[in-house]
Amino acid sequence: MKTKKLWAGLGLCLLASCMASESELDVDKELDYCDNQVNRTLTELRGAEGGSIDYTLAPRNIMDSLDTWHCRKTTKDEWCNGFWPGILWYDYEATGDEKIKAEAEKFTAPLEFLSRTPAFDHDLGFLVFCSYGNGYRLTHNPAYKQVILNTADTLATLFNPRVGTILSWPRNVQMYGGHNTIMDNMINLEMLLWASKNGGDPRLADIAISHADKTMKYQFRPDYTSYHVAVYDTLTGEFIKGVTHQGYADNTMWARGQAWAIYGYTMMYRETKADRYLDFAQKVADVYLNRLPADYVPYWDFEAPGIPNAPRDASAAAVVASALLELSTYLPAKKGGTKYKEAAIRMLISLSSDTYQSRNSKPSFLMHSTGHWPGKSEIDASIIYADYYYIEALMRLKKLEEGKPIV
Ligand code: GLY
Repeated sequence: MKTKKLWAGLGLCLLASCMASESELDVDKELDYCDNQVNRTLTELRGAEGGSIDYTLAPRNIMDSLDTWHCRKTTKDEWCNGFWPGILWYDYEATGDEKIKAEAEKFTAPLEFLSRTPAFDHDLGFLVFCSYGNGYRLTHNPAYKQVILNTADTLATLFNPRVGTILSWPRNVQMYGGHNTIMDNMINLEMLLWASKNGGDPRLADIAISHADKTMKYQFRPDYTSYHVAVYDTLTGEFIKGVTHQGYADNTMWARGQAWAIYGYTMMYRETKADRYLDFAQKVADVYLNRLPADYVPYWDFEAPGIPNAPRDASAAAVVASALLELSTYLPAKKGGTKYKEAAIRMLISLSSDTYQSRNSKPSFLMHSTGHWPGKSEIDASIIYADYYYIEALMRLKKLEEGKPIV
């Protein structure tokens, strides 16, 4: 790595841009922290005897009262098992440590079956693009590329042309009374757009654009806050209703849903250069930023019961920090570039504090995420996707300050 001196400079630069927060962010130090936690996790996965790892199990969460990872088996219906290999790829990128690369490869491999299995639901992008996608970005392994291309074709089988969006949860059609599309699905469009530009079917891009446009039209309220779920008539494509699944109520802003929207429309602008996405990304970001608590880490829903004592969602803050760093690069300084970058840095400063970092207490990077409050699961926990977007955001900031492309 180009090292400490450069990072001393970066530390000063970040300090200068964050005077208002009276704090500073040393990206190099936080990436070292992540590497330390990654190695602690690998040691934990080897077990007390220091034995061999079961690579079909990946860390998923650590509840607040516990201090070791709960792992989940890689199956077609476990949506989070791409994040841990993704973290390992980012840690390899940060450290150049070949041992971490070897672990990244081994945790990536069990997800290959998804490229030759009918789609269970829309989460294929989270699963395969965080793992194989980052792996291909760093290694250019042609076998990885083929897995991504095949999985993109599989994801496209969920597209309903009459509706114009992907059916996110085939298992829930009856429950919602129609074709359902969830805001999280925006993230999985990235794999379709990538595939369309890297040897896959060019129509994959048409699917992603159709999905993003229809979602933009129907899945947001006039104030640009989002519904978690949009339900459409399967046959006519007509919008039936907007409801929540993981938020507090149908008409409230679920923090991570809005985070997926900010990230998703920023990514859509990157991949298409269509101004409507850049404009929309700012609108959905602004309504989120304007309602944040002082430390820039949202309550799990912006109208959660019990605020200010309601649980936070550090994962939403990590997703948004990563997205806003990217968004800042598409805008002149005075037209949002500086505003979004500073907001992202404030989020990362809070997440890097002892309030949110797990530090010695647990091997995760972060605490205080909320997975599914209405379902009473993963409330105020360490959750693997919070860690994934946290290290991604740190890497993006590192590249930004080095003048390199961040994505
Ligand atoms: N994709 C589900 C979630 O954000 O919790």
